Parts: sequence; structure tokens; C-alpha cells
Amino acid sequence: MKKRILFVDDEPNILRGLQRMLRSMRREWDMRFAETGPEALEIMEREHFDVIVSDMRMPGMDGVQLLEEVKKKYPETVRIVLSGHSDSQMTMKAVRVAHQYISKPAEAEELKSKISRSCSLLSLLNSASLVKVVSGLEKLPTLPQVYQQVMEELQQEDPSIGKVGAVIARAPTMAAKVLQLVNSSFFGIPRHIESPVQAVNLLGLDTLKSLVLAVEVFSAFDPKKISARVLDRIWKHSVQTGTMARVLAQEEAFAKDGVDDAAMAGLLHDLGKLILMDNFSGAYKNVVSKVQETGFQVHEAENEIFGVSHAEVGAYLLGLWGLPQGIVEAVAFHHLPDQCPLDQASPLLAVHVANALSKSESKGRTEDLLTLGLDQACLKKIGLQDRIEQWMEIGHETLNTEEAEP
Ligand SMILES: [Fe+2]
Ligand SMILES: [Fe+2]
Repeated sequence: MKKRILFVDDEPNILRGLQRMLRSMRREWDMRFAETGPEALEIMEREHFDVIVSDMRMPGMDGVQLLEEVKKKYPETVRIVLSGHSDSQMTMKAVRVAHQYISKPAEAEELKSKISRSCSLLSLLNSASLVKVVSGLEKLPTLPQVYQQVMEELQQEDPSIGKVGAVIARAPTMAAKVLQLVNSSFFGIPRHIESPVQAVNLLGLDTLKSLVLAVEVFSAFDPKKISARVLDRIWKHSVQTGTMARVLAQEEAFAKDGVDDAAMAGLLHDLGKLILMDNFSGAYKNVVSKVQETGFQVHEAENEIFGVSHAEVGAYLLGLWGLPQGIVEAVAFHHLPDQCPLDQASPLLAVHVANALSKSESKGRTEDLLTLGLDQACLKKIGLQDRIEQWMEIGHETLNTEEAEP
């Protein structure tokens, strides 16, 4: 089915430019164009859209206001911001309403790839089997509290690093865990970081915000339902995958945002396992025995039993919490990267490889990466198959100095 996309910009020239640039997509996309927020909302009342791409600065109703409305009325529509250079205050505000940003002037390729990736993620997350599992969840973990407070501070006109640091410091157990991570090889910072404020200063608000989220999410699970041993094992694997994804992203010269998203997605990639174990502990035992009996991979056994895997479940939740789309996508497809239009610098690539490397190291490098789920055909398609050997070396060096405790 054709995807339906609505573009909104107050400058008719830009709309015409987009129309010209995206002509080649006519077979796959149905595109509509609106010059104001109210006009966009009027069109949306009559027709359904999968994606809305909106300008930020518009007279009358601006992009944030428009996307807030869309979020309320049509939460299933993917919201993309097309924003002008260096408009940092606007961008800050857009954080809570947009799934994805594209900066102007946009290249045709970037637009096409970001929009089509949004569409594949959307169809995955709207699949009937996922909706069934998610609606059967007794409780969906809510957005953790300290993280929420950090987000609230970030949404102020002029967010203060000191205040964000203070919010974290007020939750001492969490602050300790965050600092432990910050000081581990997860970041590879040479000097010792003593306080949350120092950490925010050094790593930036975005990174700290995601760390808080990861640490808080892991501590929210009930040790009665998931044993401390299992929780500990998943946490270690997650920290390793996050560390490795960051190192790989740096090695492959990703942009700064890509590096941060890769690390965070690595840290959160198996979150769905915890959700499934917590909510369906009985059925999850069947997953475990299936893996032992058949040699299936975990995600394959989950698919047999639940019709979905931990990857989609985790991605669904992160999407609901409004995490950046690069992270949601990396989590959603971490076992099946070929199901998503992939490029050489996407967090998904880093997480997919890092996941296999972490498993390989934990098994003392006795199994080959293919059995551990590395999709070599997919790497070949984007011309990276020759890098595997070097990645393994780097993985061995990095993960064997890793000592982060949960
Ligand atoms: Fe996984
Ligand atoms: Fe994993």
C-alpha cells in the first residue's frame, strides 16, 4: 500500500522544491502539501496520513503547535520536523513533539531515506501481532520519574545544567549507577567524573538524559519476577552492547548524534525481554526451553510463542516514550537489519554488530558470528563485510577491559 505523507511549509517555494525533489517517489508515496498549520489539520480531518513533515517557523500556528495537535489527535502518525539551521530554541521545544528531524536545506536522499525508514518502522510497530501482545500486557512500564523530571527541566525556556545535575543527584542510588557507567569504559573518558553536574557538562544533556532512562528502566523490574541473576546478565550484556556500539560508531566515523544514539540503543536493545519476562513469566519459560531444545535464537523462539520478539516490544515502548527514532529503529530491527533500509552510519548497524560481538565474547569466542546472528549478507550489501575481522579485534580489546557492574 502507498504511504501517505503530508508536507507543511509556509514558503510555497520550499513546497514546490520538495515536490520536485520527491517526484521519483510517486509510485510509493501519496504526497500532499499544505502552507499553514490550520490547513494541514483541515486536510488531516478528511484523510489519513502515515507521516507529517512540518516546518518549524510559520506565522500563526508554528510547527510545535501543529505537531502537538497532531500528536493528540493522530498519535499513530509519524511526526518529522524540517527545521532551519541553528534554531536551537525551537529545536529544544520540538524534542517532545517530533520523532525525527531533518535540517534544511534537505538533500533528496536524506529525505527519502528518513521518510522511508519511518514508514518501515511504522508498519512493524503497527503489526497486528505486536498490538495483541502489547494490549495483553498487565502493566506497561511508565516513563521513569527521574527521567521525566530531567525532561521537564529540558523543556524550560533556558534549561540549566546545574538543575539537571541536581535532579539526578537527588536520587542517590541512581546517581551512583549513572556515575559508575560514566566512569566505565562505556564512554572511555580518561579522567574520573565525581558528580552528576560534571557528567552533564562533559557528556551533554542528551546523553545524560538517556543514561538516566536506561538505569531507571532496569531498576524498575520486580526481582521477584525476574531473578537478580537474569537481570544482572541482561544488564551486563546491554552495557557491553552499548559500549561496543559506541566504539564501532566512532570507528566508522558516524556523526556525533549517531554515536550517542548507537550507544543508547545498545544499552536499551533487549529491554523488550524484560517486559516479556515480567508480564508473561509462564510463557517465557517455554521460550527458554525452546531455545535449549531446538537451538533457535531467542528472538526466533519468542516469535514462535508470542508472534513477536523482544525487539519489537522494546521498540514499541521506547517509541511511546518519545525516544529518538534512530534509537527506536535500532532496537526494533537489531536482529533483522535487512528489514530496514540501512545505511553505513545508522545506529542500527552498530547495535546489530555490537550485539553479536558481545555474545561472542561472553562465549569466549568459540562460536562464529553467523551462528550468533550476524547478518553478513546485509553487511555485504552495504559494502562493509571486510570490516568484520577488524570489528572483532576491537570488540575483543574493548569488552575485555569492561568492568561495569549493574
Ligand atoms: Fe536481542
Ligand atoms: Fe542482545
